[in-house]
Amino acid sequence: MDNKKIIFSGVQPSGNIHLGNYLGAIKNWIKLQDEYQCLFCVVDYHAITVKQDPKELKKKIIEIAKIYLASGIDPKKSVIFQQSQISEHTELTWMLNCVSARMSDLNKMTQYKDKAGDNENVSVGLFDYPVLMASDILLYQTDLVPVGEDQKQHIELTRVLAKRFNNEYGKVFKIPEVVIKKEGARIMGLDDASKKMSKSASSEFNYIALLDDSDRAKKKIMKAVTDSEGVVKYDVKNKPEVSNLLTVYSLLSGYSVKDLEDKYKGSGYGDFKKDLAELVAQFLISFQEKYNNIKDEDVEKILEKGAKELKSVANTTLNNAKEKIGLN
Ligand code: AMP
Ligand code: TRP
Repeated sequence: MDNKKIIFSGVQPSGNIHLGNYLGAIKNWIKLQDEYQCLFCVVDYHAITVKQDPKELKKKIIEIAKIYLASGIDPKKSVIFQQSQISEHTELTWMLNCVSARMSDLNKMTQYKDKAGDNENVSVGLFDYPVLMASDILLYQTDLVPVGEDQKQHIELTRVLAKRFNNEYGKVFKIPEVVIKKEGARIMGLDDASKKMSKSASSEFNYIALLDDSDRAKKKIMKAVTDSEGVVKYDVKNKPEVSNLLTVYSLLSGYSVKDLEDKYKGSGYGDFKKDLAELVAQFLISFQEKYNNIKDEDVEKILEKGAKELKSVANTTLNNAKEKIGLN
C-alpha cells in the first residue's frame, strides 16, 4: 500500500443487496478510488451473526464481490477481500472485547436493539458485532469510513475503543472519521417510508434488489406507496414517500430534485412513477449486463490476491496491539 489516506468499508454477504446499499454506500466509493487507497471488504463474519445457510453464504460472498466489480470498483486501484480470510479480524476483536469494549457501550447500540428486540435467543455475535466492525477498521489504520447513516453509531464506537486503547496502552490505532453523504444516506422502504430499505424486510415490495428482474422492479416502483395529494414535491416531513422516490430518481438520473419537481409540476404521480420505473429498469439492465460478464474464477482470484496483500498490514497492527498488552 502506498502513502495515500486509507478508506475502509464493507457490505455483508446476506439478503438481497438493494438500491439503498448501492445509493447509500457502494456508489459513493467509486469516486474515491483515485485519491485514496481503498479497501472494500466482504464482511462474512458479520453475516454469520444471524443464521445463514452454508451453501447460500458461499454464493453470496462471490455475489457481493461481483456487485463491487459491476458497480465500478477497480481491482487495479482498490483492494477487494473477504474478512474471514484474514484471521487478524477476529483476533483483534477478542482483544478489544477484553481490554476496550464495555457492556455499557454495546448496550447503547441501536442497530442491536432493533435487530434483537425482546428476543434473548439471539447470538452473542450479534451483540458483539460492533467490536468486530471496529477491528475491521482499526487493523488497517483507516482514515475514512464511507457508509450509510445507519452505521454512524458503530463508527463513533470504533473511535471510542481506539482512543481508550491508545490512552491506556500507548498509541497503536489511528482514529478514523466517518463519511456520510447527505443524499442517499438513508433510502427508505418502498412499502413503508418510516423504515429504511432493508435486506431483511419481510416483503420484497420494500426494496429493489440490484439483481431484480427489470420488469419485477418496474412493478415494485409502480406499487410503491405515495400519498393522495398528487403533488411531486420534496418534503421529507410531510411527504416521506414521494421524497424518497425523488431521492432515488435524482441519484440515478443525475437531475437535481428541483429539476424533477419542475418537470412533474401539475402532472400527478402517474408519469412520475412510470418514468422512474423505466429509469430503474434501465439501470438494472445495464448493471446486470456487467455483473453477468464477471466470472466466478476471476472473483476468487481477486479475493485471494486481496487477502495476500492485506495480511501483513493486519498482522503488523495486531502484533503491535499484542505487544502493548503484554502478549508477545
Ligand atoms: P449492510 O446491508 O448492512 O451490509 O449495509 C451495507 C452498506 O449499505 C452500509 O454502508 C449501510 O450503511 C448501507 N445501507 C444499508 N441500507 C441502507 C439504506 N436503506 N439507505 C442507505 N444506505 C444503506
Ligand atoms: N456493519 C456494516 C453494515 O452492516 C458492514 C461493515 C462491517 C462495515 N465492517 C465494516 C462497514 C467496516 C464499514 C467499515 O453495513
